Amino acid sequence: MEEAAEKRYAVVTGANKGIGFGTVKGLASKGATVVLTARDEKRGLEAVGKLAEAGLSELVVFHQLDVTDPSSVSSLADFVKTKFGNLISWYDI
Ligand SMILES: NC(=O)c1ccc[n+]([C@@H]2O[C@H](COP(=O)([O-])OP(=O)(O)OC[C@H]3O[C@@H](n4cnc5c(N)ncnc54)[C@H](OP(=O)(O)O)[C@@H]3O)[C@@H](O)[C@H]2O)c1
Repeated sequence: MEEAAEKRYAVVTGANKGIGFGTVKGLASKGATVVLTARDEKRGLEAVGKLAEAGLSELVVFHQLDVTDPSSVSSLADFVKTKFGNLISWYDI
């Protein structure tokens, strides 16, 4: 009997462009739910929009994160805990 596939979640930092953006796209394309984070909300939401155009809107959510700002890190941690409860992988670019 086939087992149900395990649901995976990831958070990607600096994901509005470059390697981070590509990582989000790759993980979501494989079925993971991904929190795309960026320090600038506008740039982050634009990146989410591009992934929505690629058909990944159900799997990508945005949250602001500046990795140098402790209050921003704390806010993201609270968001992840509330929304997903558990985190499988951090991809820190
Ligand atoms: N590209 C390569 O082939 C390669 C190879 C080996 C290693 N690397 C390293 O991998 C890293 C990413 O490379 P990349 O080519 O993807 O660079 P990139 O296109 O410049 O992207 C860097 C990302 O990091 C974000 N960022 C910068 N400071 C941040 C902060 N304080 N908090 C949150 N996000 C922040 C940027 O956001 P903003 O848009 O707001 O600036 C951007 O989204 C770099 O450290 C690079 O040296 C790259």
